[in-house]
Amino acid sequence: MGKKYLITSALPYVNNNLHIGHLIGCLLPSDVYARFCRACGRDVLYIGGSDEHGTPSEIGAARENMPVEEYVEKYRAKHLDVVRDFKLSFDLYGRTHTAQHEKLIHELFNRLDSLGMIEEKVSVQPYSAGEKKFLADRYVIGTCPRCGHDKAYGNECEKCGASLDPDELINPHSAIDPSSPVEMRETKHLYFKLSKMQDKLRAWVNSRVGWPKTAITIANKWLDEGLRDNPITRDLKWGVPVNKPGYEDKVFYVWFDAPWGYVSISQIATPDWASWWKNPDCHYTEFMGKDNVSFHSVFFPAQELAMDDAWKTVDTLKAFNFMNFNGAKISKSTGNGVFLDAALDIAPSDCWRYALLASAPETDDTDFTMTRFAEIVNKDLNGLLGNFVSRVCKLSNKNFGDTVPAGGAIDETLAHRVNEKLAELTGCLDACEFRKSIVALRDIYGIANEYMTEREPWTLVKNGDTAGATAVLNECFQLIDLFARVSAPVIPDAAEKIQNIFDIKHDLSWPTMYEHRIESGEKFTVPENLFTRIELESTKE
Ligand code: MF3
Ligand code: ZN
Repeated sequence: MGKKYLITSALPYVNNNLHIGHLIGCLLPSDVYARFCRACGRDVLYIGGSDEHGTPSEIGAARENMPVEEYVEKYRAKHLDVVRDFKLSFDLYGRTHTAQHEKLIHELFNRLDSLGMIEEKVSVQPYSAGEKKFLADRYVIGTCPRCGHDKAYGNECEKCGASLDPDELINPHSAIDPSSPVEMRETKHLYFKLSKMQDKLRAWVNSRVGWPKTAITIANKWLDEGLRDNPITRDLKWGVPVNKPGYEDKVFYVWFDAPWGYVSISQIATPDWASWWKNPDCHYTEFMGKDNVSFHSVFFPAQELAMDDAWKTVDTLKAFNFMNFNGAKISKSTGNGVFLDAALDIAPSDCWRYALLASAPETDDTDFTMTRFAEIVNKDLNGLLGNFVSRVCKLSNKNFGDTVPAGGAIDETLAHRVNEKLAELTGCLDACEFRKSIVALRDIYGIANEYMTEREPWTLVKNGDTAGATAVLNECFQLIDLFARVSAPVIPDAAEKIQNIFDIKHDLSWPTMYEHRIESGEKFTVPENLFTRIELESTKE
């Protein structure tokens, strides 16, 4: 059995419309990596899905006045449209509110409990008498004991900056139902004994390679501060019910159940799931935004390691910084950003895929603008890629008909230059360095363009040097075939269109070297323009 590749993309909450930040923060790079791995012939399991539990869904549903199930369904449907429209090639885009998931969480909890890794603790927490439920500290509002501000939160006063405990507030009441007074009541919760995992986890983190600096820094910060036991149950109705007597009206904390969604979704995706999840010869890459790192670098692996059941832990943790839009945070409430249900009215998905990857916030937060978007699409995709393909096909068709003209041996100088860039591109994709990958990809397009500009096949035609002209055009068709292969992970639609230029379907396997795969005499069709220029004016809306 060869090496396996497990790839997961963080599971977005189903409480909003996805925007370009979600796309670049995990969905798209994970897809590109999965496509690259598959093209290399690797045995891939690529998993994503919806994180359906937790307060984000409960609060969102309350705000839209809907039962939680219905609310979750509504947004999940929108997310599934994004998966389809942006060509995200998940083996399964699953969800966490399933019977399989609940069963798994119950088994895993029992396992931790039986190993002595779970502890019950009684604490005093704010209880809303009117709503008959416990509230998180920040959902309690009252008067600040320090400054008298009457809208202080149970965790802090925004006016004087004091950090508060909910029992310090004067006249505390519920933020959700202001008519309901809040009192402090005893409640019990289950804790995962994370503190016991300090040494094991430190050693594990130290054994990881290739994590971005952001990720390593966050993991080490938690370890340096010392890991503390953390509560894994909540006083909520929506979630995975806690399978322990005395906890009938509680559910597991969403961050306890969600990462295991990768496993339960894998179990639904394939009966063979254990050959990824329990296999030491499997490379596991996780994609996420930086706000997810502590959960994926500390809490989730600590649980996996604590179980001592040979669970696959993450090898490469690829974390992204944030992408801003026009210099400000992307946000639904301010309307700043590009939301994915509207993005395709501006340009097709390939354009977004390419331009976002070219701007990926890998080392720092980055800013994205429509000007930048148009520039990248017009220069790289329309200019270097699209124009090359169309010029070659048209020139050849006009002078030599609809079959690939006769060529000769591979142009060694050209091959050398291309191979250098190809090795660079392969290395970058393998290392999940996406901005650099796009630079290398663009360089390959650039080399082809330079080759044609230097050789001027149109001049050779004009001068009657038929053999010279066809040799150059043949070489250009080989480059077009190469374009399809190396572009496919990033811009799959364009790659397919390029592939379809030739009557014979050449596979889009990842090339190890530039080669001549197209026979002279093969029939081809001059394609429609692969890309259209983006005019800034038309993108204003
Ligand atoms: N739902 C979380 C978010 O949108 C991500 C959860 S990732 C998971 O930030 F693995 F825990 F599911
Ligand atoms: Zn105050």
